[in-house]
Amino acid sequence: MRSGHVFLTSCLFTLVGCGEPAQTPDVPASGGGESAAPVQPSPAKAWADRNFDERGDYMAKVVVPAMKDLFQRFDAARFADFGCVDCHGPNAQEVRFHMPNGLHPLDPRAMPMANAADPEVARWARFMSEEVKPRMTELLGATAFDPTTGQGFGCFGCHAMAPGTVPAP
Ligand code: HEC
Ligand code: HEC
Repeated sequence: MRSGHVFLTSCLFTLVGCGEPAQTPDVPASGGGESAAPVQPSPAKAWADRNFDERGDYMAKVVVPAMKDLFQRFDAARFADFGCVDCHGPNAQEVRFHMPNGLHPLDPRAMPMANAADPEVARWARFMSEEVKPRMTELLGATAFDPTTGQGFGCFGCHAMAPGTVPAP
């Protein structure tokens, strides 16, 4: 088995040479509304078909640059050093990048909403639901979470569930 440490240093600090073929967006960024970020390529290879190392490569080369841009535009100071740990937690390697991994637990019965009375909660909720979640869904080539089936990528693809809440089926 490959050491997580070697894996991280090879992909985190030298973003070239991780085996990911150069990706060029096949869709030009055309008048992306409020978003200045270019449209990101969907995975050249399906996420499910990638092995562990290939997933790490894709994260380093495609996911982190795209998400870093979003998070830094939301709060440049807070996310100045945006990287793997922001989503995967400081012990990412020990848990083999399993997600979710402790990121701000959310209560499915009391989700932060974009229309929350607290402007700070509303600001985060809007950013998460309108930018982070859809972009990550797109980057993974996933389908959006559908509450009727319980399938798809959603908030709980990244966030832990608050203790005492019933896990999604
Ligand atoms: C914006 C949040 C985010 C960032 C930043 C991020 N990841 Fe991920 N990563 C995820 C999510 C979400 C998954 C799980 C995707 C899925 O299968 O649903 C994941 C999955 C993975 C996996 C696959 C784990 C498995 O069990 O198959 C690896 C490996 C990985 N990430 C490595 C990294 C590395 C290395 C970095 C930094 C270069 C990184 N990630 C940065 C969100 C992130
Ligand atoms: C791709 C991964 C990802 C997805 C999907 C995601 N989030 Fe987040 N979320 C993050 C990260 C990273 C942070 C910043 C954590 C930090 O800096 O403390 C965050 C922060 C938050 C915060 C602020 C937490 C705090 O510390 O104040 C809230 C609230 C939140 N997310 C709600 C949501 C909701 C609701 C959804 C679904 C609509 C969602 N998130 C989807 C990664 C994600």
